[in-house]
Amino acid sequence: MVGTYLCNSEDETRQLAEKFAASLIPGTVVLLCGNLGAGKTFFVRSVCSYFNIPEISSPSFSIINSYSGKYDITHIDFYRINDIEELFPIGFYDYLNDISIKFIEWADMFPEIFATNYFMINFISKEDDSREITIKYYE
Ligand SMILES: Nc1ncnc2c1ncn2[C@@H]1O[C@H](COP(=O)(O)OP(=O)(O)OP(=O)(O)O)[C@@H](O)[C@H]1O
Ligand SMILES: [Mg+2]
Repeated sequence: MVGTYLCNSEDETRQLAEKFAASLIPGTVVLLCGNLGAGKTFFVRSVCSYFNIPEISSPSFSIINSYSGKYDITHIDFYRINDIEELFPIGFYDYLNDISIKFIEWADMFPEIFATNYFMINFISKEDDSREITIKYYE
């Protein structure tokens, strides 16, 4: 599932997300990086819908959202976190070590948290509705 994909429409991004979802196992950590509006939440929404979790909302303000479907999903957004110290009191590390599949937007704000065993997905928005999406795995 690692590689670089050009998704020319929302539909193509949804299909890529569904294919990625099908390869996931409980506990997996997925970091999502890329500019505002690049498609990180859209991708997670598509994964959740594949797991029968309908219409999730963005965690930009709530910071951590958790869901139960075929698998448990934890959806986190670091964008509004100013200091890494804020993560402990909101229970971030409890989620990090549980069996849920974790999706973390803006994870590159605190790269020191993640050492091994995670996917990193980079989103680059091209003109109009096209997105270049690169999936890497770090062992
Ligand atoms: N090919 C595409 N893939 C993904 N999203 C697309 C595509 N074309 C258009 N879009 C639109 O781009 C927007 C992406 O917004 P989204 O909230 O997913 O971005 P984000 O990366 O999570 O931004 P933020 O950093 O603010 O959280 C959505 O409105 C989506 O419908
Ligand atoms: Mg988002």
